[in-house]
Amino acid sequence: MKKKILITGGAGFIGSHVVRRFVSKYQNYHIYNLDALTYAGNLENLKDIESENNYTFLKGDINDEALINEIFKKYKFDSIIHLAAESHVDRSISEPLLFAKTNILGTMILLNAFKNLWKDNWRDKLFYHISTDEVYGSLKETGLFTESTPYDPNSPYSASKASSDHFVRAYGETYKMPFVITNCSNNYGGFQFPEKLIPLFINNILNNKSLPVYGDGNYTRDWLYVVDHARAIDLVFHNGVNKETYNIGGFNEWKNIDLVRLMCRQLDIKLSRIVGTSEKLITFIKDRPGHDLRYAIDANKIHKDLGWEPSVTFEEGLSKTIDWYLSNKTWLENTTSGKYKDYYTSQYKS
Ligand code: NAD
Ligand code: TYD
Repeated sequence: MKKKILITGGAGFIGSHVVRRFVSKYQNYHIYNLDALTYAGNLENLKDIESENNYTFLKGDINDEALINEIFKKYKFDSIIHLAAESHVDRSISEPLLFAKTNILGTMILLNAFKNLWKDNWRDKLFYHISTDEVYGSLKETGLFTESTPYDPNSPYSASKASSDHFVRAYGETYKMPFVITNCSNNYGGFQFPEKLIPLFINNILNNKSLPVYGDGNYTRDWLYVVDHARAIDLVFHNGVNKETYNIGGFNEWKNIDLVRLMCRQLDIKLSRIVGTSEKLITFIKDRPGHDLRYAIDANKIHKDLGWEPSVTFEEGLSKTIDWYLSNKTWLENTTSGKYKDYYTSQYKS
């Protein structure tokens, strides 16, 4: 019997990389990808593996309790890798309730369905919750987030992810559900919806549109190539210890403004524009409310315990990422048409 693994949110950015990796690498698993296909979910992201015989797509909303219970009864998943979520901070500021619903209640509905299925025998079962470093709040100029940094979320997005982490732990303690949680830093790479900084700015540079940098641009993020995140998820899924948390990061801090300048330079060269052309598109705009100053991860635990480290430098990863968007202009056009245009106009109106 093949092990049945449910991956939620597999049609999104990180989820599609995880699904691709597991479907291609593990013939002894059957991968079920459950996704509601919100604006962020796109089956085009999985075209290359969709007809593999160890893969099944299930369209469904994690907020639909009856549907989730029915699906769990039918397929009896052995393990879950839970990525489905509302994931964009700016959207969480305009629609906080949606974030509470999907990220907190949706996670609880999955936890509950899994608990009801296996509560009498947890052998070889696992609920793996994919979370973010944003639950730890904001760092000042120095210091790093470790696994014991107290939670201190500032945005509705990070508060909803923090809450879902707490519920996963609570199910682990109360119902003895085996679980692991990973808290990862900012990801970048192919298939990322162009509302997040890197793909948004690549798309704007391609279209000679302004590059809306929030505030003074002196905010710092720790960037990780998405393929390296998928490698880490693979390792933690197989070798992570029950009830443990692992931080995942790129050892790679960049101030937004420096990162944007690097992107401009790489794109000018790749597009055979005079170096300096794209930088002229930089426009400083009104800051994001509650903007976290700095995120930086201490990823030594996953390095020491599981032997993981990033496989590419940032310059290489960024260059590969830009090449991916340049070779997938139809994907970019498809994702930035329709409703995205309304979102863009309302988010960047001032
Ligand atoms: P994404 O927004 O690209 O994808 C989210 C996916 O979840 C989409 O396919 C969407 O259709 C699906 N989804 C949303 N609501 C759903 C619902 N109610 N029911 C079923 N499916 C639903 O997000 P991402 O960037 O790939 O992030 C995936 C996970 O990783 C999230 O849990 C996020 O919090 C976490 N994470 C993201 C980052 C990052 O930098 N992007 C960093 C650390 C952690
Ligand atoms: P983002 O990609 O939204 O990720 P997160 O908020 O989860 O870190 O943003 C990364 C950084 O870039 C963050 O400091 C906000 C900033 N940013 C801008 O300056 N302009 C933009 O248009 C966007 C989307 C982000």
